[in-house]
Amino acid sequence: MISRCFSHLVNHLTTTRLALLLAHLFLLYYLFKGNSEQTMSSQKFIELNSGQKMPAVGLGTWQATDEAELENALEEALKAGYRHIDTAYLYTNEAIIGRVLERWLSSGKIQRNDLFITSKLPGIGMTPERVEYFLKKSLADLKLDYVDLYLVHSPMGYQYVSDTELTPMKDGQLLLDNKTDLEAIWKALEVQVDAGLTKSIGVSNYNIAQLERMVKMARIPPANLQVELHAYFQQKPLQEACKRLNVKLCAYAPLGSPGRKALFEKRGLKFEELGLLQDPVVIELATKHNKTASQILLRFLVQQDVIVIPKSTNPSRLRQNLEIFDFQLSSEDMSTLQNLDKGLEGRSFTAKAFKGVTEHPEYPFNSY
Ligand SMILES: NC(=O)c1ccc[n+]([C@@H]2O[C@H](COP(=O)([O-])OP(=O)(O)OC[C@H]3O[C@@H](n4cnc5c(N)ncnc54)[C@H](OP(=O)(O)O)[C@@H]3O)[C@@H](O)[C@H]2O)c1
Ligand SMILES: *[C@@H]1O[C@H](CO)[C@@H](O)[C@H](O)[C@H]1NC(C)=O
Ligand SMILES: *[C@@H]1O[C@H](CO)[C@@H](O)[C@H](O)[C@H]1NC(C)=O
Repeated sequence: MISRCFSHLVNHLTTTRLALLLAHLFLLYYLFKGNSEQTMSSQKFIELNSGQKMPAVGLGTWQATDEAELENALEEALKAGYRHIDTAYLYTNEAIIGRVLERWLSSGKIQRNDLFITSKLPGIGMTPERVEYFLKKSLADLKLDYVDLYLVHSPMGYQYVSDTELTPMKDGQLLLDNKTDLEAIWKALEVQVDAGLTKSIGVSNYNIAQLERMVKMARIPPANLQVELHAYFQQKPLQEACKRLNVKLCAYAPLGSPGRKALFEKRGLKFEELGLLQDPVVIELATKHNKTASQILLRFLVQQDVIVIPKSTNPSRLRQNLEIFDFQLSSEDMSTLQNLDKGLEGRSFTAKAFKGVTEHPEYPFNSY
């Protein structure tokens, strides 16, 4: 009798425990589900031909080299939900980015596979033998075992003088390497995928003809093309080509890169501001949607499945740039913005500040 009662009690306890456990599990499930739904609606992913999912909004980091400012910006960006960061050997900020990523990864606040990190092969690394060398230098600074995407920064190689002479000059001329072999470099990039040092590979600043050459000879096709792309320079023919070639597009300077004025003036050069953020058509749509000009310009691209990487080191502006998933542009809004396109005239990154650059056999910017 006693023993039966006891076993009953034990059974009862076990059932209660089980029920409690189940309740906890359900609670966890709903909390987790709630969380993941929240991230789903505050981000969008673009699937690459490599199978990887690339967050449609990433943080650009060109010209962000002030250590304290960039560290703070990255902390704020990760808190706000940014998981995609765009950098390059050329930006000389990978060590700063690496320190912040390590803090987030080692504390368990974030998992490596939640991140999407892009880096790029510099002009001085544009020979097959130097690809692995420069990728490994970026990885060491980023404190990562692999990047998610490694891009050829530009189709024009420069002569190698030293690791730190990023644009080697002689008598006021950029020392170009006229023998850049894009096919050979692509093969060296494919080897890095085999070695696990990058998940996907792609190119930047290539024109349609150059991209087609890569697709034609590739064993691993380019997953991404990063080019200047914004409402004044919409690159329609290039967008068409990318659809046909199954290469996803990433827009750099999506806001028209207004930060260039200060940079050019520092180097004693003139720079005509594009004024994209001040365009009356953009402002009018911003008022209509109760959004900022920047949010309209970014939403316009993302709604066409173009990935954007706006740069901001200002916490409130970088948060703003991610908050573009709670509204939609109508097809009428879209065609209004499409009408802002200036065709090839709209190109503002020409590299022409470097004298003689247009003589390089792979100079890409004379056509789409
Ligand atoms: N592959 C290539 O050759 C290449 C070339 C250029 C750029 N990129 C990549 O693309 C990224 C983006 O391009 P970008 O930096 O040239 O130009 P961008 O993103 O079009 O513009 C950045 C500038 O806009 C300002 N800004 C950012 N958000 C703003 C907002 N909400 N309202 C008003 N102003 C705002 C920023 O200033 P604050 O920081 O003060 O906010 C900064 O001066 C680069 O950072 C880089 O990662 C790649
Ligand atoms: C407009 O947007 C701001 C900032 O997001 C918000 O605080 C405000 O309530 C919005 N106004 C309307 C009328 O929706
Ligand atoms: C590359 O070509 C340009 C234009 O033809 C020339 O001015 C330059 O000297 C060449 N550079 C080298 C290293 O051959």
